[in-house]
Amino acid sequence: MENKLKTLKNKAEKEIKETDNLKDLDGIFRMYLGRKGELTTILRSIGKLPSQKRALLGKEANEVRHVLQEAFDIKQKELGWYKEDQLAEVLDVTAPGKKLQIGHLHPITQTRRKIEEIFGSMGFVVADGPEVEDEWHNFDALNIPAGHPARDLWDTFWLKAKRDKKPLLLRTHTSPVQIRYMQENEPPIRIIAPGRTFRYEATDAGHEINFYQVEGLMVDGKISVANFKAVIQEFFTRFFDKDVTIRLRPSYFPFTEPSFEVDISCVLCEGKGCSSCEHTGWFEMLGAGMVHPDVLRAVGYNPKNLQGFAFGMGMDRLAMMKYKIPDVRMFFASDLRFLQQF
Ligand code: DAH
Repeated sequence: MENKLKTLKNKAEKEIKETDNLKDLDGIFRMYLGRKGELTTILRSIGKLPSQKRALLGKEANEVRHVLQEAFDIKQKELGWYKEDQLAEVLDVTAPGKKLQIGHLHPITQTRRKIEEIFGSMGFVVADGPEVEDEWHNFDALNIPAGHPARDLWDTFWLKAKRDKKPLLLRTHTSPVQIRYMQENEPPIRIIAPGRTFRYEATDAGHEINFYQVEGLMVDGKISVANFKAVIQEFFTRFFDKDVTIRLRPSYFPFTEPSFEVDISCVLCEGKGCSSCEHTGWFEMLGAGMVHPDVLRAVGYNPKNLQGFAFGMGMDRLAMMKYKIPDVRMFFASDLRFLQQF
């Protein structure tokens, strides 16, 4: 038996050494170490021997097994287990491929682009401003002085950092972009300013601490509420791809006079009344008004020769209406099951 083991070992080692391809190597492996291989058969038969012999031969046979296994492993690497022509044999080109996941724009980005496209076609330029804003641009210049009760309408995140020793905050609306743009440019002005805004308030289905607005501003010698109505009506009709009726209700904003809230006929029930519009047939969409003379003065304009309208609306709200989304928080939850629907 001992001799048999030694011969087997030598023969196998020689054969392994002499092979030059993986296929033969595999055959050799099966011949010696496979389920019905020679060495495997010997190992099995050792179990039936008397105990003294069993221990001795068992040890030796196992050693041979180790040595051969190692020789196989080395040879296998040497022959290039990863060589392409070998792999080709196991590559099933008919197997279905892996599906690539393709990303797309967030529904709010899609909404913003649509808004920019519609207003752009009406001659409005896209203006931008910082999200970290100073108190003057966010409040004072918009006719909301410190201590004025109207400041309570905008729950504010104040920052510890200051700029030129003046308090900084996260902008509570996109209206400060009106101020920045007018400071830098002369009328006629026709801009929209889409962007992110922040409010320090409790979240629920309709409120988030950060959300998106789009501001609008048109200033020239003779701009009227009629111009505003025409522009906004055109916008909604094109945005919802439907005939939309609008109505203005009197309201209050410190930076406009007169001010109004703008409602649109509910696009879900076409004004008939449904649960989404609380059976009124109307949806409150934005705040607007004629630019207050104090605002024009704050940027160095002469209110005697100039007039304008301004408006601000929630971009998230627009997206919610367009896509029938019931909860604003879904936009920020990063849930792919939600996002992949758009
Ligand atoms: N900034 C206002 C808000 O966030 C919205 C607004 C109302 C903007 C009237 C305007 C406007 O430009 O004229 O509540």
